[in-house]
Amino acid sequence: MFAQALLFAATAAVASATNLFIADYAGMITTVSLTETKGNYTLTETFINKQCAPNPSWLTIDADRGLLFCLNEGLTSSNGSLSSFIITPDGSLANVKNATTISGPVSGVIYGNAAGQRGLVLAHYGGSSVSTWLIDCEGGVKPNEEFTYTLSKPGANPAQTAPHPHEAILDPTGQYILVPDLGADLVRVYSWDQATLKLKTLDALKTAPVSGPRHAAFWNPYSVSCEGCTTYLYVVGEFSATVTGYAVTYKPNGGGLSFEEVHNGTTFGLLNLPPATYPAEVHVTPDNKYLTISNRNDSSFTLPQPDGTTLHSDSLATFALQDDGSLLFYQLWPSGGSFPRHFSMNGPGTLVAVGLQNDNNVAILARDPSTGLIGEPVARIPVGGNVTCVVFDEQKAQGVLGG
Ligand SMILES: *[C@@H]1O[C@H](CO)[C@@H](O)[C@H](O)[C@H]1NC(C)=O
Ligand SMILES: *[C@@H]1O[C@H](CO)[C@@H](O)[C@H](O)[C@H]1NC(C)=O
Ligand SMILES: *[C@@H]1O[C@H](CO)[C@@H](O)[C@H](O)[C@H]1NC(C)=O
Ligand SMILES: *[C@@H]1O[C@H](CO)[C@@H](O)[C@H](O)[C@H]1NC(C)=O
Ligand SMILES: *[C@@H]1O[C@H](CO)[C@@H](O)[C@H](O)[C@H]1NC(C)=O
Ligand SMILES: *[C@@H]1O[C@H](CO)[C@@H](O)[C@H](O)[C@H]1NC(C)=O
Repeated sequence: MFAQALLFAATAAVASATNLFIADYAGMITTVSLTETKGNYTLTETFINKQCAPNPSWLTIDADRGLLFCLNEGLTSSNGSLSSFIITPDGSLANVKNATTISGPVSGVIYGNAAGQRGLVLAHYGGSSVSTWLIDCEGGVKPNEEFTYTLSKPGANPAQTAPHPHEAILDPTGQYILVPDLGADLVRVYSWDQATLKLKTLDALKTAPVSGPRHAAFWNPYSVSCEGCTTYLYVVGEFSATVTGYAVTYKPNGGGLSFEEVHNGTTFGLLNLPPATYPAEVHVTPDNKYLTISNRNDSSFTLPQPDGTTLHSDSLATFALQDDGSLLFYQLWPSGGSFPRHFSMNGPGTLVAVGLQNDNNVAILARDPSTGLIGEPVARIPVGGNVTCVVFDEQKAQGVLGG
């Protein structure tokens, strides 16, 4: 009896659980529980929420306030929507508010002021727009303002007949919002009014013609964020399959950012780029030493499966970040399946959750934070639709936020 109790206590001590939220284009936000026991991982579906239907495209978590914001892209309607949720302790989602938006929201980020007023800025791919929303502590949302863009001349790629804002991110000091616009070959830059959270348009970064900037990530090599601190920005071009690094300089008096190119190369590093490769997501790793990019449709790997079949896998490319902002190719590794549209790493950097859009599942890959190398899948879970986003329920809101 005593021995059994001891054994139970020992098992309980090594088991750990984390929740993840998965969005898919078939209308669901799935909560899954990832448990680990002595190095064995299990993924279990715990809740399905359909209140961001029909086409969830993105999830933004406000970790401090325990809120989750889901964007519905509205693929077959003329509007999209924004739904807010309270993340309950068991990982289920309690819907607070739904709001109709301009067409095609695909990404959002939280910003705010020192008084604790928070906002959400959304990038609308289909609607060629950027919109902002005021959010309250309980998750209520109300519209703040909208910008809709046009192109004076279409770009050379067929997807460049209109502007297509694809992501919204905050700079590391929390003073600027950047929006890569895949249709316009621009990264739009904004600051905001501290009282109203309305945006002020500043000089944009012009990317190479027909690069199709999709997503971007900032990096402070010395892990310190300030206006005078060394700061780099990495912009991934979906059409050119390139990653371009820029040294970022802060203009005085909140006047904006200037960018000087310090790196330009393919998202495959030294390797030959396969045709029809579309990089999607980019993140600096939690240890602040590497940049990882997901490549879609490269089919770089053919993986034997336990049942004797083979799985075609796209890739995750990892680069070692250099102090001068350049990137050294480090690892090309199977993403675990087809179309890794989105991925997230956990806080300690020991796991990578990959959203495999065309396989309708999420793979969890091991990662060794001491070497920065991504490893084998340790768990996988199917969901009911094409995966668009997967996040760990432990993410901290980016940037400097009051309140
Ligand atoms: C982990 O999985 C392996 C292989 O399935 C199994 O042999 C082992 O008993 C498992 N360990 C634990 C602690 O569950
Ligand atoms: C939001 O929309 C979903 C799906 O239509 C619905 O179930 C839910 O009740 C709505 N929530 C609110 C607060 O209107
Ligand atoms: C819905 O879409 C229409 C057409 O694009 C647009 O004019 C309208 O402002 C949108 N509604 C909201 C609430 O954003
Ligand atoms: C980066 O390299 C690509 C391919 O070599 C080229 O087309 C593009 O113009 C370059 N981009 C920049 C910003 O220099
Ligand atoms: C994906 O790559 C294959 C070649 O491997 C190509 O035939 C196909 O058209 C590509 N898909 C897209 C959407 O471009
Ligand atoms: C899901 O992806 C598959 C493979 O690309 C595609 O055939 C299917 O139409 C997609 N379904 C939805 C609902 O987007």
